[in-house]
Amino acid sequence: MGTQGKPMEVTDGPVVGDAFGVMLSDCLRAGAAAGEVLEFIERDDGYIDAADAARYFAPPEEWSELERWACEQARGRVLDVGSGAGRHSLYLQDRGLDVTALDVSPLASEVCRRRGVRRTFTGSVYDLASASPEPFDTFVLFGNNLGLLGSAEETPRLLDALARLSAPSARAIGQGMDPYATESPYHREYHERNRRLGRMGGQVRIRVRHRNLATQWFDYLFATLDELRALLEPTPWRLGDHRAEGASYVAILERR
Ligand SMILES: C[S@@+](CC[C@H](N)C(=O)[O-])C[C@H]1O[C@@H](n2cnc3c(N)ncnc32)[C@H](O)[C@@H]1O
Repeated sequence: MGTQGKPMEVTDGPVVGDAFGVMLSDCLRAGAAAGEVLEFIERDDGYIDAADAARYFAPPEEWSELERWACEQARGRVLDVGSGAGRHSLYLQDRGLDVTALDVSPLASEVCRRRGVRRTFTGSVYDLASASPEPFDTFVLFGNNLGLLGSAEETPRLLDALARLSAPSARAIGQGMDPYATESPYHREYHERNRRLGRMGGQVRIRVRHRNLATQWFDYLFATLDELRALLEPTPWRLGDHRAEGASYVAILERR
């Protein structure tokens, strides 16, 4: 019942669709200017976070030292995994690298093309692996996209797929974040809840909301470097060089 004893109006939930891609398109239409479009991320405990969508269009001058260092480590044929609006793809392409921007969001791929990314692939790493493309020398998972490892169960599957797509001496350069470097009681309680459910502490189940749209719920993994090292053990990858800046880090994974 609603207030004053009247029955509550029945409402439909958000429409499941390409919320992230529509958000990027709206932001591009607004000139990718700061303060115009917000990204809303909803976690499955009800916690909601918002951040400026313009950060997906940020030019290299606005990137952290860590992010710039990460880009310098790329070479040869590059797959930008979860490329978003293509800021890293464009940077690497301008430096003469052969880059493919991969994203599951059709509109993110379209935004990449409209901004000048020459090669895009709409779909997952698994979809690309089943198309048997030329092998890649570098995979980049920037903007915290080590999170796409998803969970302890998903990590070996995803890293096997990347290995199938890779040249023998390939490397994967991923950006991640220590989830436990927080004072927030909401996040700490969430880590505890995860452990009670048998999940990794930093395994967040989220969806992106935009207007009346929501993406599907998906798992995104925040792991410490030690947790990452342990996750890599049963995979064809090992932890190579890595650098940290506060809670953020970049890790280079090398083929064994
Ligand atoms: C946090 S954004 C990072 C975007 C970009 N790398 C950047 O730093 O600006 C995550 C991106 O990954 C994409 N994505 C989410 N799940 C994916 C999946 N399973 N495979 C490929 N891309 C995915 C989203 O559509 C989104 O563009």
